[in-house]
Amino acid sequence: MENGLNRRRSAWVVGVGVGSTVLLGLAAWTQAEATESALSVDPPSSVRARGLPVPTGDGDFEQKGTQPNTVTDPVFTFTNCVSCHGVFDAQTALLPGRWLGSTHSHAARDPIFLAAVTIAEQDAPGAGQLCFRCHAPRAWLEGRVTTPSDTNGADFFASDWNEGVGCHFCHRTVDPVYQPGVSPPDDQAILDALAMAPGGSLVPTSPGNAQYVVDPLDIRRGPRAYAAPSPPHAWRDSAFHRDAAMCGQCHDVSIPTLMRQPDGSYLPVVDNLPHPTGDKFDMFPEQRTYSEWANSEYASTGVDLGGRFGGNLSVVRKCQDCHMPDVTAEGCSIGNFGTLTDRAYHSFQGANLHLIELLLELYQSPVGAIPALDFEQTIALMDAVPDVEYMLSNATDVELTQFGGELKVRVTNYCGHKLLTAYPEGRRIWVNVQFLDSGGGLIEERGAYDFVNADLTEDTKVYHAEHGIDSVMSGATGLPVGPSFHLALNNKIYFDNRIPPMGFTNAGFEAVQAEPVGYTYADGQHWDDTRFCIPQGTADVRVRLYYQTTSKEYIEFLRDANVTDSRGLDLYNAWDAVGRATPFAMDDVSSAINAFVPGDTTGEGTVDLSDLSVVLFNFGTVTSAGAVVGDVNCDGIVDLADLTVVLFNFGQSV
Ligand code: HEC
Ligand code: HEC
Ligand code: HEC
Ligand code: HEC
Ligand code: HEC
Repeated sequence: MENGLNRRRSAWVVGVGVGSTVLLGLAAWTQAEATESALSVDPPSSVRARGLPVPTGDGDFEQKGTQPNTVTDPVFTFTNCVSCHGVFDAQTALLPGRWLGSTHSHAARDPIFLAAVTIAEQDAPGAGQLCFRCHAPRAWLEGRVTTPSDTNGADFFASDWNEGVGCHFCHRTVDPVYQPGVSPPDDQAILDALAMAPGGSLVPTSPGNAQYVVDPLDIRRGPRAYAAPSPPHAWRDSAFHRDAAMCGQCHDVSIPTLMRQPDGSYLPVVDNLPHPTGDKFDMFPEQRTYSEWANSEYASTGVDLGGRFGGNLSVVRKCQDCHMPDVTAEGCSIGNFGTLTDRAYHSFQGANLHLIELLLELYQSPVGAIPALDFEQTIALMDAVPDVEYMLSNATDVELTQFGGELKVRVTNYCGHKLLTAYPEGRRIWVNVQFLDSGGGLIEERGAYDFVNADLTEDTKVYHAEHGIDSVMSGATGLPVGPSFHLALNNKIYFDNRIPPMGFTNAGFEAVQAEPVGYTYADGQHWDDTRFCIPQGTADVRVRLYYQTTSKEYIEFLRDANVTDSRGLDLYNAWDAVGRATPFAMDDVSSAINAFVPGDTTGEGTVDLSDLSVVLFNFGTVTSAGAVVGDVNCDGIVDLADLTVVLFNFGQSV
């Protein structure tokens, strides 16, 4: 094992490129690049560029928190908990039965994850250390993510594959901020030991990047204090487990090989040492779910969503409230701990329907060292489907309003973070609109999706984020400038129009590197409008908001960029076999369309001066997707042609 921040070396010499041996660091990296281009070897390809891999090492990905092989008591598997905590009883939702069907449980064997780790390791050796830290914390803590960072989990136990983020791991995490009188007293000594690590303090300074602190002893922390009877194992009342920061440990992801510059760009720092400041806000923001939440109204005051989420709870605040809703249930099946109305339903469901299909398809039998799904896991995954569909169906509302010849589609976000948060690669939500004639025949469709080929016609609003490569990174790697799926290398956010949560402020989101990019939202705006031109003859309109976990482009990338193993191809085949990540309709609303006169942009029934001023006011505006106010002929620009339509129909009424 070569993990641990204590390890330091003075000079780093590593071969890069064609027979050249250079010192690492940005200067050297760029220099290696220059030498290599001068030699002009093979032409760069978009997936296997000449500067790859970049000269990173495990040290570049080290983080604070508990280090491998420092935990005294083993981390138990869930089989040690189920006799009392009813894990198998997925049918009756006996606590915490649903965990077995969650993405936490399958975070290590997740085939999209594994295919992406292979690419990350191809691009930036050592990145796997960071990946498995979140996706397989037990294996990582116990030193089975070996160095050089392996991408195949050669040393994994079968149980490491079976339980990515498991019971005992979560219930041994310690609040890294000691709160006298609140934190369990033993936390102090655990944190002191980390603070005095020989290479400098290992106490995490902000939640993220799996910088978890784990109790070296088997003392289970949870949300309650017990008098008598009390659990038959050591326990501590832990406020941390009732706090979103517990989830924040893994739900803010930052790339530690990149250093934020004063101009807002990110430059590589590659020296086989941890990030210079260790502050996540100085790293490149891959996921900001926790920070988005922390800057929302859910975190500040809580929101009464009228029972949409939270189970028995009316006002929802933290991640747990929506993703582990309060249910009425008994405690441990041994002893009488009473029925409570705020037991945490361990479903952890979000949006990933496709992962369930993939797991059921791929793991009917073992895949290499990864065990097949057993009967209980299979049932639990199938039972998870309605839970995920519940989350997706309640995440948004879609409202339709007609203004003369225009249709406004408003999507309102009711999540505790952006609508579409977290993992950016390939995830998308789009507005599909069908204009129908009086016989129900299709006149025109926007955002049409081909369910066989998995192709989306992008003539509509697509909510998504695009991360990619800037010119510096391009120079260093040979990859083209622009959006890319190279997660470990991406150092620029090209686009992000994902809808903010309630309580959004531009300043708050900028401070946590989560501001909209290439798109604007006003402070407080947790909805987005798209306007579409209504074709003549439309009697009805049907609008669906589709969610798709992963796009065809991303799956093809994971297959084509892979030069190491068969994970990309296996994933592609499974994706193909299960219907290519069939999109799910989060909303499906229809409305009759009132007759309108072309040119009546205000929708009050007559073409008059108010319409003229709308066109003049918006004159010159160009649309990207959907229509823009005043674009009465729907050609994408407000110009003379629109003025002509208004003047031609001036004075006409329906
Ligand atoms: C700090 C924790 C953390 C680290 C480190 C991390 N991930 Fe993840 N990863 C997550 C979370 C949380 C999600 C789920 C987000 C979501 O559902 O949108 C996720 C989701 C993913 C997914 C999507 C899986 C799917 O089924 O759609 C892939 C792929 C992935 N991660 C790859 C990686 C790779 C590769 C690395 C290492 C370079 C990595 N992750 C490191 C936390 C982490
Ligand atoms: C991702 C972390 C995580 C995982 C994995 C996890 N838990 Fe929990 N668990 C929590 C949190 C957080 C709470 C407290 C939630 C709250 O009170 O809002 C909790 C609550 C509990 C409670 C107390 C229930 C109550 O309300 O009295 C028990 C018991 C428990 N978990 C057992 C388990 C078992 C057994 C597993 C594995 C099958 C498991 N947990 C998996 C995070 C986790
Ligand atoms: C022999 C029975 C038994 C086993 C096995 C068992 N527990 Fe418990 N546990 C209990 C009882 C009883 C309670 C208290 C009643 C309740 O909350 O259900 C409890 C409570 C807890 C709590 C809540 C603590 C708090 O302060 O809020 C957590 C967390 C927990 N157990 C985790 C685990 C984990 C993780 C495992 C497996 C590694 C496990 N338990 C195995 C019986 C057991
Ligand atoms: C040890 C790191 C870790 C901790 C702690 C953690 N998560 Fe996760 N979580 C993950 C990873 C990794 C994934 C993605 C797994 C995948 O898709 O491969 C994930 C996925 C999820 C999803 C995913 C959903 C989806 O369907 O796309 C939800 C919801 C979630 N976590 C909620 C929580 C909540 C709530 C907590 C706190 C109680 C929490 N997580 C704590 C690592 C963690
Ligand atoms: C008010 C309820 C609510 C709160 C609070 C909330 N979430 Fe969610 N979350 C949702 C809903 C609904 C979805 C599904 C829609 C979506 O994907 O955006 C979701 C999706 C997710 C996903 C899947 C991501 C994706 O879009 O692919 C992750 C991961 C997640 N949440 C983690 C968290 C974490 C971590 C917190 C706390 C920091 C949190 N959530 C707080 C409601 C909530």
